[in-house]
Amino acid sequence: MGFMNSNAKHLLSKIATGNGHGENSPYFDGWKAFESNPFHPTKNPQGVIQMGLAENQLCFDLVQEWILKNPQASICTPEGVYDFSEIAVFQDYHGLPEFRNAVAKFMAKVRGNRVRFDPDRIVMSGGATGAHETIAFCLADPGEAFLVPTPYYPGFDRDLRWRTGVQLLPVTCESPNNFKVTRKALEAAYESAQEKNIRVKGLLITNPSNPLGTILDKQTLRELVSFINEKSIHLICDEIYAATVFSQPDFVSISEVIEEEKEIACNRDLIHIVYSLSKDMGFPGFRVGIIYSYNDAVVQCCRKMSSFGLVSSQTQHLLASMLSDDVFVDRFIAESSKRLEKRYQDFTFPLAQVGINCLKSNAGLFLWMDLRHLLKNQTPEAEMELWKVIIDEVKLNVSPGDSFHCSEPGWFRVCLAQKGQSRRRVALTRIRTFVHQNKEVKNRLKRKCWNSNLRLSFSSLRVDHDNMMSPHSPMAQSPLVRAMN
Ligand SMILES: Cc1ncc(COP(=O)(O)O)c(C=O)c1O
Repeated sequence: MGFMNSNAKHLLSKIATGNGHGENSPYFDGWKAFESNPFHPTKNPQGVIQMGLAENQLCFDLVQEWILKNPQASICTPEGVYDFSEIAVFQDYHGLPEFRNAVAKFMAKVRGNRVRFDPDRIVMSGGATGAHETIAFCLADPGEAFLVPTPYYPGFDRDLRWRTGVQLLPVTCESPNNFKVTRKALEAAYESAQEKNIRVKGLLITNPSNPLGTILDKQTLRELVSFINEKSIHLICDEIYAATVFSQPDFVSISEVIEEEKEIACNRDLIHIVYSLSKDMGFPGFRVGIIYSYNDAVVQCCRKMSSFGLVSSQTQHLLASMLSDDVFVDRFIAESSKRLEKRYQDFTFPLAQVGINCLKSNAGLFLWMDLRHLLKNQTPEAEMELWKVIIDEVKLNVSPGDSFHCSEPGWFRVCLAQKGQSRRRVALTRIRTFVHQNKEVKNRLKRKCWNSNLRLSFSSLRVDHDNMMSPHSPMAQSPLVRAMN
């Protein structure tokens, strides 16, 4: 065993021993902090509250209700067991026809039935994670690159790059225009790649955006389509948050834009959609990912590659039944966006009351929270310092903007759609306490009543409002100075 460890680097591949997975980033560190000390309202009230996972757990009651009413949809019930042998032996990588039909119908419904999807273009993968890797393998060779507007989902660095050897090049987007992607930024990123002799093969966008929670308007989508056509590169659209839009304006899918052939010239062979049921339905454990390409060769290649990440036939069977139930799906989509909107309000109002603003958004399972005013200075190091206080002392796992390649320090993503009202209340109380304590320190600093060499402990602070120091606030016992002095 000792022999194996000391020689592991020589015995294993570069992929196995390299750092391409990216698990050393703060994004994953936050998850680890949560896992080693998870909050529980009674058993561990001082624990870390998980707000770093984009989960949609608000409508499980509707799903459970449907499952109970439809026992034949499962092959492990007395009503469904007669389908067991047929489903258990199914291994065609095209997928069950009824599954592909149901997914195509669901994808259209989520997009307001303004477009239709061809079930024969639906290719399965192990979640959107697998879909991204498969599409990267199909479109680019090692060393070639995709442009990605920032801030973007940290998992892309793993999913598209790690095993494929493909590069991701940031397209810098900034807060003055609400992080909108502009032609200028696209051209700058493209030119910078050319200067470095890197071949750009495509542009990857996420609409609705993770982490911003905003959607791309039709005009912007048209501009992106023009850009990729001019450069003759691919456009991959990750639309896995399509059904999480909870208020106006409505979501516009790339599929709608390319339908407008009269208004926009587009080579459809360049357009590919990545979808999954992890966010819209809240089923990340089912690992249902979809690649939908308008390019026949890409469909064929992805289908061959899908052998490495098929969706189990048992899951396909269940979902074929669930997603073709129009009454259920309509109710689910409507109720899900209603509940997401309520969660959004339940977070943004209390945060605004303590002076914390969030980017105005209308989709997704998270908020993009602006804590720039709490930074010691506007640097990535100061953001990291603040994040460490939030995770170690406030005991909230929120994700720092740097892990999303955000070009401006001080933004944090807060996930809001996990179950548990009490967790939400405790999390907000902790944030309020933190902000008030921060103000208190700043006031003291202003009054110059402390020596700059002195390390001030939060446990020594008297907070004015009695109720501010919750018994669930780990800060009641913790020093919190680092981020503020
Ligand atoms: C934009 C985006 N794409 C892909 C994924 C991966 O999704 P899946 O669980 O379907 O693999 C995520 C997960 O958070 C995501 O936010």
